[in-house]
Amino acid sequence: MGQPSRSPSRPKVVTVRSPWEVAADELDPPCDEWTEWIEHWVHKMARPTQLRPALDDWLVWLILAGRGFGKTLTGAETLACWAKEGPGHRFAIVGQTFGDARDTMVEGKSGVLSVLPPSALRGGSRESAWNRSLGELFFSNGARAKIFSSEKPGQLRGPEHDKAWVDEPAKFKDAVKGDALDTTWNNLMLGLRSTSTKPQVVVTGTPTACALIRHLLKRPHTVIVRGSTYDNLDNLAESFRDEVLTAYEGTRIGRQELLGEVLDDVEGSLWTLAAVDASRVTAAPSDLVRVTVAIDPAGGSTEQNDETGIVVTAKASDGHGYVLADRSGRYTPNAWARRAMVAYDEFAADRIVAETNFGGDMVVDTLRTAGFKGKVVKVAASRGKRQRAEPVASLYEQGRIHHVGAYPKLEDQMVTWLPESGGSPDRMDALVWGLSDLFLGTALGAAWAQAWGTMADAEPEQGVAVEDAEATVDPPVVPASPVLPRDTLGPLAGLQRRR
Ligand SMILES: Nc1ncnc2c1ncn2[C@@H]1O[C@H](COP(=O)(O)OP(=O)(O)OP(=O)(O)O)[C@@H](O)[C@H]1O
Ligand SMILES: [Mg+2]
Repeated sequence: MGQPSRSPSRPKVVTVRSPWEVAADELDPPCDEWTEWIEHWVHKMARPTQLRPALDDWLVWLILAGRGFGKTLTGAETLACWAKEGPGHRFAIVGQTFGDARDTMVEGKSGVLSVLPPSALRGGSRESAWNRSLGELFFSNGARAKIFSSEKPGQLRGPEHDKAWVDEPAKFKDAVKGDALDTTWNNLMLGLRSTSTKPQVVVTGTPTACALIRHLLKRPHTVIVRGSTYDNLDNLAESFRDEVLTAYEGTRIGRQELLGEVLDDVEGSLWTLAAVDASRVTAAPSDLVRVTVAIDPAGGSTEQNDETGIVVTAKASDGHGYVLADRSGRYTPNAWARRAMVAYDEFAADRIVAETNFGGDMVVDTLRTAGFKGKVVKVAASRGKRQRAEPVASLYEQGRIHHVGAYPKLEDQMVTWLPESGGSPDRMDALVWGLSDLFLGTALGAAWAQAWGTMADAEPEQGVAVEDAEATVDPPVVPASPVLPRDTLGPLAGLQRRR
C-alpha cells in the first residue's frame, strides 16, 4: 500500500491551510488506500500553495504560476480529493482541446489517473473506469468526471456539475472573449448549480494577460495563488529545468513564464503576447512549401557588436506562416554566417534573406567566404520600420502566423518594440524580413499579396529583392493561387525526417 514512488516532503512555512490540514489532528488512521494516497499528498507532498484554501466562501481557486510549478498536479490532486469527499458527484474537466484534457489532465504524468490508486477506480482498474474516447472517468464511489473542450463551449450548456477543474484557461479558444455569454467559462459557471454541494472550480494555468485571465483576477469569491517555477525546481526533470530556465531567464516574458506575473501589454506595441500565444503550436505541419533563414547582421566585426538576428520562418500549404527557430546572438561575421548555414541545412531552407543596410555586398561575401552555396536574397530597408513591420503584425492579428514553441527573447522584442522609438531590435527585424519574404515583399510575395487581396501595402519594395547570381536552387514556381503545390517542396522533402 502507499505510494513508494512519491518524493518526500519539503518543509515549508504554512501560509494557506486546507480543510484537510485543519482536520489532520482528528483524523482516524487511514482506513483505505484512496484515503492514504490523499493523506500522502496533503501531509507529505504538497507545498502549502498547492493545498485548497481554508476559507469558507471561495468559488474559484485561481493558481497562476510559472512553468513546471506543479499546476496540473495540483488540479489533479484537488479533483481526487473532491471525488473522495463527494460520492456520486459530477465533475467537469475543462481543457483547451479534448486531446489536451485527455493527454495531460487525465492521462498525463501529473494527470488525474496518476494520483488515483486502483481502489479509487470503478471496477478497480483503469480499463473499467476510464472511457478515453468519451472522456469519462468513473470513481469507485459513484463520482464521475467528464472532459470538456474549449473548442466546443456549447457542450457545457446543459450538464450540471458539482465542481470543476480548468487547466490553462489562457489557451482556451475563446479566452479573448473573457466571460462573455456562451463562452467556455461562462457556460461552465452557469452549469455549476448543484444545490446539494458547494460549487467550486480550481483553475490552474500560466498567467498570459488575456481577457479571461483578467476577468478571473477581478471576479469576487476568487482566491488567487501565485507561484514560480523555482518553487518546484527540486521536482523537475533536469532536461525540462534546463530548457525552460535557459530560454526564459533574464527575459521580460520570463517574468510571466517563470515567476507567474501577469504582464501588462506595452501600449503602442504592434504585437501582444496574448495574440502570439493564441496561435502558438507545438509542431510545424509536414507540408511546408517554403523555408527562409533571415539575417539582420550586426554592424562591426567582433563579438562585442549588437546581436545578429537569425530567424527561420516557413510557409505551409494552408497559407499560414510558422516561426521555426531563433538562432540570434552576438557573433563575429564568420560565426553568424556559419550559424545561418547550419539553420539553412537543418531546416532544408530555400534561401537566406539578408539585410544589407550595413554595407553592400558584405553580407553576401561573408556567406560565400564561409562556404554558403545556396540562394541569397539581399534586402535593404527603403521604408520606415513601422511600414515594414505593420503588414507582418497584421498577419499575426489574422491568426496566420504560428510560433512553433516559444522564443522568449524574440517575443520580448516584438511585444515591447514601439515603432516611434527609433530602436531596431535585431531578432524582430530578422523575423520581419523572413515573413515579408514569404508573404509580402519579394517577387513571390507580390503574387501572394495579389492572390490574398488583403495586403494593400504589399507591392515589392523598390530594389529589395536582388537575387544573387550564384544561386544554386531554382526559383520556385509562382502559383496562381495562394496554395503552392506539393511538388514545389524541393529540398523540404526530408525536413520532417531530420527534425
Ligand atoms: N509538491 C510536489 N512534490 C513532488 N513533485 C511535484 C510536486 N508538485 C509538482 N510535482 C512534479 O513536478 C512536475 C511538474 O508538475 P506539473 O506538470 O503539474 O507542472 P505544471 O505547472 O503544470 O507544468 P507546465 O507549466 O509544464 O504545465 C511533475 O513531474 C510533478 O509530478
Ligand atoms: Mg501543466
